[in-house]
Amino acid sequence: MASITVEPLSLDAMKPKILITRQVFPEMVAQLEQVASVDHNHTDDIFSPDTLRARAQGCTGVVTCLTEKIDAAFFDACPTVKVVSNIAVGYNNIDVAEASKRGVKVTNTPGVLDDTTADLTFALLMAAARRVTETERRLRNGEWKKGFALQQWLGTDIHHASLGIIGMGRIGQTIAKRASGFEMKVSYFNRTRLDAATEEKYKVAYKTKEAILRDSDFVVVMVPYSAATHHLIKAEDLALMKPSAILINTARGGVVDDVALIAALKEKRIAGAGIDVFEGEPALNPAFLDLDNVALTPHIGSATHATRMRMAMLAATNMQAALEGREPPNWINRS
Ligand code: GLV
Repeated sequence: MASITVEPLSLDAMKPKILITRQVFPEMVAQLEQVASVDHNHTDDIFSPDTLRARAQGCTGVVTCLTEKIDAAFFDACPTVKVVSNIAVGYNNIDVAEASKRGVKVTNTPGVLDDTTADLTFALLMAAARRVTETERRLRNGEWKKGFALQQWLGTDIHHASLGIIGMGRIGQTIAKRASGFEMKVSYFNRTRLDAATEEKYKVAYKTKEAILRDSDFVVVMVPYSAATHHLIKAEDLALMKPSAILINTARGGVVDDVALIAALKEKRIAGAGIDVFEGEPALNPAFLDLDNVALTPHIGSATHATRMRMAMLAATNMQAALEGREPPNWINRS
């Protein structure tokens, strides 16, 4: 009698399937492979919405970056997806309300990037104030002809200047700590005022947004992007700033109206800006590239090896917890 052999199911076939939408660290993949069968985008090319939906078929979870739009159409097309783990603190790429309606857990990676993002904020503040990127460009272009010259390429002092922080969450507070080393006078605006002990700890004074814009030598915006913060800084806000003032945005594209900012910089209505995030990035408004009074970086706020690794491993931990039926540590839409 012919014997029938039945292939045992491989361990992987029994694990839930997940998709990692961008290239990540091998350590993250290794952690997730303990609990899931992992499909990983090794090319690092951004998936089109159609490819994303096709690749996520049958997946229980997806690990995303800011580059993936996870919206109602995605959830409709991928009904098996029960958890979205974003490798970022911001999650404006995900429609959390639509996720909640369908019982999909959404997680992010707060905390681990505060210092690194505050560092980059200060790097841009200093670069814009002291014309670092502009003068390097001039030097590389052979424009440094006269050697040291008393009135050449003069910038703005950072030490003892006033700094206004709009958005005083964890990263805003970490920026305030950096400012104290420069003996800056720091004020802040936040939807909810900090308690007196925290204001005292960071040596910060509460002001209205308008007063911050009017009084500060440097204005930093550090709020998450949402419908409520879309163009939080627009033409009329820029008009309140001093002509000598400098604006820094390391939060999210869309928090500042880029067209209005470009006009203010072009007409020297403000002295300068340091910008890491753009509306429609990476296709930033090309007019930025013609301006000397703006220091530009390509969304690198959290981009150090150690911090990106911490973000990735935290996203893995969130995903693993959800797959194992535990509460993910950074579960945004826990009801
Ligand atoms: C990066 O921009 C993040 O939100 O983590």
